[in-house]
Amino acid sequence: MQTVAERVEHQPTAKGYVPVYTTRVIEQPWDTYTATDHETWATLFKRQRELLVGRAANEFVENQERFGMSADVIPKFSDLNRVLAETTGWELIAVEGLLPELTFFEHLANRRFPVTWWIRKPEQLDYLSEPDLFHDLFGHVPLLLNPVFADYMQAYGAGGVKAAAIAPEALANLTRLYWYTVEFGLINTPEGLRIYGAGIVSSKGESIYSLEADAPNRIGFDLERVMRTRYRIDTYQKTYFVIDSYEQLIEATRPDFTPLYARLADAASHPAGNVLDSDTVYQRGTGEGWLSDGDV
Ligand SMILES: [Fe+2]
Repeated sequence: MQTVAERVEHQPTAKGYVPVYTTRVIEQPWDTYTATDHETWATLFKRQRELLVGRAANEFVENQERFGMSADVIPKFSDLNRVLAETTGWELIAVEGLLPELTFFEHLANRRFPVTWWIRKPEQLDYLSEPDLFHDLFGHVPLLLNPVFADYMQAYGAGGVKAAAIAPEALANLTRLYWYTVEFGLINTPEGLRIYGAGIVSSKGESIYSLEADAPNRIGFDLERVMRTRYRIDTYQKTYFVIDSYEQLIEATRPDFTPLYARLADAASHPAGNVLDSDTVYQRGTGEGWLSDGDV
């Protein structure tokens, strides 16, 4: 383990101007956070918590409280890890940024969740193209205390290791599952639709848009449908998939995906905004403001 943290720098590469990948696991350099860093955390924390009342799944805020997360100060991973050790057995590891896919899957498969240690700058409160501490910690970590969701995350990691050995197309199918659940998932509750996806709960605009805007589709979760659906990385989603429970996720991921990947290899993918006859439709989006291309 490396003790000196080096922030990832954006550098021009063959893929454009992107953060340079590193596999290094470090000690969270907690003492190096500045007063501005803690203020940024506080601002984002307060703003999102206010916004998420009646919008986020109940366990999301409940679990933040069980962790002792607050606006006062950036949490220490070591404190959060004590709570995880006593509950679902997950462990947070500090990383400098996005990991290579296979490394990321291997961590998840071993119940280790990589968390970017650094936090965005004050001028980046509303948008950041890559995950930072706020996205990872505020958005992803709370549900690691939910035993069913915690198992789903591990199963996803194991599935990723497997898919990586099958074909790039298999990995693309699986990535869509992560995108539409872990990052941008909605859940149906007796009180109405609620957010559980980390990409939504860590975004001010999308927390409102995903639930309240007329533009996007809201469609019942179906594994194969999700795996065939392209998505947006540059705008809010055109479609959100709604689960009934976290059990539904773990059930859907229990079977071996190998035959499914083989079938999907011959099937066309669906554009992000399409609604199919077979869909369970909670809301058919108006499509207002959508860009016509750019689905990935
Ligand atoms: Fe994320």
